[in-house]
Amino acid sequence: MEKKATIRSTREWLASKSRADRRVGLVPTMGALHEGHRALIRACRQKSDVAVVSIFVNPAQFGPSEDYARYPSTLEKDLELCRAEGVDLVFAPEAQEMYPKGFTTKVRVEGLSEKLCGAFRPGHFDGVATVVLKLFEIVSPDLALFGEKDFQQFVILQRMVKDLNLQVALEAIETVREKDGLALSSRNAYLIPRERQLAAGIFLGLQAGRVCFERGTKDPDVLVAIVRKALLESGIETLDYVTLIEPETLETPNQAYPGCRMMVAARVGRARLIDNVRL
Ligand code: PAF
Repeated sequence: MEKKATIRSTREWLASKSRADRRVGLVPTMGALHEGHRALIRACRQKSDVAVVSIFVNPAQFGPSEDYARYPSTLEKDLELCRAEGVDLVFAPEAQEMYPKGFTTKVRVEGLSEKLCGAFRPGHFDGVATVVLKLFEIVSPDLALFGEKDFQQFVILQRMVKDLNLQVALEAIETVREKDGLALSSRNAYLIPRERQLAAGIFLGLQAGRVCFERGTKDPDVLVAIVRKALLESGIETLDYVTLIEPETLETPNQAYPGCRMMVAARVGRARLIDNVRL
């Protein structure tokens, strides 16, 4: 496995490996890799000839009062995981390499980026879209894989790829969960044991909504109220949002239908956790 820290050496290495008949797959990450990332890497390995993982804690997607400075970093362990999963190349640049002095460009996917998490994290998705477009330009992947846990991020990136005619296929991989349902996230590392127990309530709340839908409830307000109640009862008190959305527009549908998603963002201790389920 190769590890590169510069854009130039990454491009040179890829140019020497990739040919027209070889598919390059990319898993963009911010490191602190867990089993959810492993599932993305395995899918990438299966579907591509050259598997690339980027590890970069992207300052542009953190607000001034957010957790950029304390975001978990486990580079040696991450490299071990990548090696064990047969990754060909890890691209792990410093911030200066990605955002040299004078950098001012931003990519904004208007309309989708201000909703849901965007309303609580202004500029967050501009930072995500900008860095992902840069990664696509650096790696030129045929395929890029993302986790369904970050569903809004995936919808925004799909829009960006479509609008800018980018030649990359995006694929979302199902959320990997702990035994009690908690979605794996690098930010789970912030939870102390009592909070970790509480955090499992997020998935239980979402499940309560799904069960009601399956039993015939279609009214989005009623379904959201059910999820909110279940979350509060399980001790999750600080909610940024609970919303039912249709997957392309992120707008609330008039009626719930199979394929729409129940989305939650909650604060548990120092962690802001997001999750969603498909109805
Ligand atoms: O989902 C993430 O880990 C990040 O938002 C991403 C896509 C790697 C961009 O920094």
